[in-house]
Amino acid sequence: MALLSVREETMRFGGLFANQSISFDVEEGELLAVIGPNGAGKTTLFNVISGFFPPTSGSIQFDGKDITGAPSHQVASAGLVRTYQLVQLFKHLTVAENVEIGSHRVTRGGVFSALFRPEWMRKQEKNVCEGARELLRFVGLEHQADLQADKLPYGRQRLLEVARALAAKPRLLLLDEPAAGLNTQETEALADVITRIQRGGTTVILIEHDMSLVMKIAQRIVVLDFGKKIAEGTPDEIKAHPDVIAAYLGGTETVDA
Ligand SMILES: Nc1ncnc2c1ncn2[C@@H]1O[C@H](COP(=O)(O)OP(=O)(O)OP(=O)(O)O)[C@@H](O)[C@H]1O
Ligand SMILES: [Mg+2]
Repeated sequence: MALLSVREETMRFGGLFANQSISFDVEEGELLAVIGPNGAGKTTLFNVISGFFPPTSGSIQFDGKDITGAPSHQVASAGLVRTYQLVQLFKHLTVAENVEIGSHRVTRGGVFSALFRPEWMRKQEKNVCEGARELLRFVGLEHQADLQADKLPYGRQRLLEVARALAAKPRLLLLDEPAAGLNTQETEALADVITRIQRGGTTVILIEHDMSLVMKIAQRIVVLDFGKKIAEGTPDEIKAHPDVIAAYLGGTETVDA
């Protein structure tokens, strides 16, 4: 059984079909890339999968359960965690604190325990703190742990976002253009991190414009254009696909075409 099944998913904004009847599966442990020109509907697809808004029609199944229209926090609790296209950090908190916040889903607590700080809670706080340090090591930010997040160079902020998402211990991680704005060296570091996430057993869906990155690390690729899935296959199949080549080189089509 696939970990994620998207079936005939359609998202309409007024007269615009941002996603139109999109279907695909993601197997457990896989690294799938979603590519397509600007405005193709990639982020909308993530918004629907992660419960940001319900689809106009169609369904989303995660781990055998129907999560169509379920709110984001519920979807995240089920193990489906995303990052955003634009950096969204708590700028005035430290790097480590940003990661600690990410573990919110997997910790328990409340007003009572916050006031009386029972033994299990102190232990939990220690675990959260150690877990955050470990994740910072994993993405190569261990030396910046105590720095204020907005003092990090942009490329490292993106790595921090990945670390924060990992703190929620996702089974499926959705990354929306994590390499946007990164230089070659930073992109390589990110590619290495994503590959290690997948090898660690986490399933990944990656939206990305950087073709060399996609071709290097993705096992399978779904291509969107004007809200529709126009191709799906291995990197080699996608590179040679005539509709994909047309979508990337044509650029003269209109939404109605
Ligand atoms: N909340 C919204 N309300 C209205 N229209 C929207 C909304 N979100 C997206 N759209 C429209 O849906 C279409 C697809 O947008 P989307 O952001 O999903 O594309 P994308 O593939 O992520 O593009 P990019 O590569 O530029 O990030 C666009 O025409 C966009 O303007
Ligand atoms: Mg987008």
